[in-house]
Amino acid sequence: MSAIPTPLLSAATAIGKARHICVLTGAGISAESGVPTFRDAQTGLWAKFRPEDLATPEAFARDPRRIWDWYEWRRELVRRVEPNAGHHALVHLAGLVPKLTLVTQNVDGLHQRAGSTGVIEYHGNILRDRCSAEGTLARRSARSVTGLPECARCGELLRPDVVWFGEAIPPLTMRDADAAVADCDVFLSIGTASVVYPAAGLAANARQCGAIVIEINTEPTALTPLADFSLRGPSGEVLPQLLQALRG
Ligand code: APR
Repeated sequence: MSAIPTPLLSAATAIGKARHICVLTGAGISAESGVPTFRDAQTGLWAKFRPEDLATPEAFARDPRRIWDWYEWRRELVRRVEPNAGHHALVHLAGLVPKLTLVTQNVDGLHQRAGSTGVIEYHGNILRDRCSAEGTLARRSARSVTGLPECARCGELLRPDVVWFGEAIPPLTMRDADAAVADCDVFLSIGTASVVYPAAGLAANARQCGAIVIEINTEPTALTPLADFSLRGPSGEVLPQLLQALRG
């Protein structure tokens, strides 16, 4: 039997003592399910596409058909894949600690499909539609004038219910995430490059409030210098190892 590496053991000890764990996940946790990340040099979505062409309100206003084509492609991709061992490990972790709040930047819904509850979807959910005029979740009209998804209530264009660059995080989402960050004693950052704000600032805020910061990532990130423990490796492997160490 191989020995458990020290940072993993230290992280497990901190988690074992925690009263409230706040977890923030990013695209990396879904990578092993086959969902591309954004900033991987070869396979990341932003290596092939420009965010300003596809993920801003201005791009949608300019060319809604193009945006919808891209989002329909991503929706199809997300529907075809399954949660992986990392998603499942977080469901188990929630059952082992007094309190766990899961905040995700991912819009793929894979945490919920794995069985996580109360997930704070910081950047929305790609599978939901929102009315671009009313700003609320909406059903699609059975008939469409433009050939694009239109709101059943007012007839205006629908858009995916995600937060684009230049848009604010919905206030209640922000409030709930900030409350968890202020209250937690361990902050676990998983599979995020930690460069997109305000999500990237949550770990520093947690640390300022006294939390131990643990990072799980295949690579060093902008958060690494701030983290108390950095666990290197794919989250689908490291999280089950962490659970094993936690169970002793
Ligand atoms: N396990 C753990 N980490 C991984 C894995 C894996 N199997 N595979 C990749 N990673 C790491 C990468 O090293 C990288 O640090 O996941 C991170 C993914 O970073 P990004 O692609 O930048 O994704 P994320 O941080 O979630 O992006 C934030 O940017 O474009 C926006 O709205 C989008 O929510 C997204 C936000």
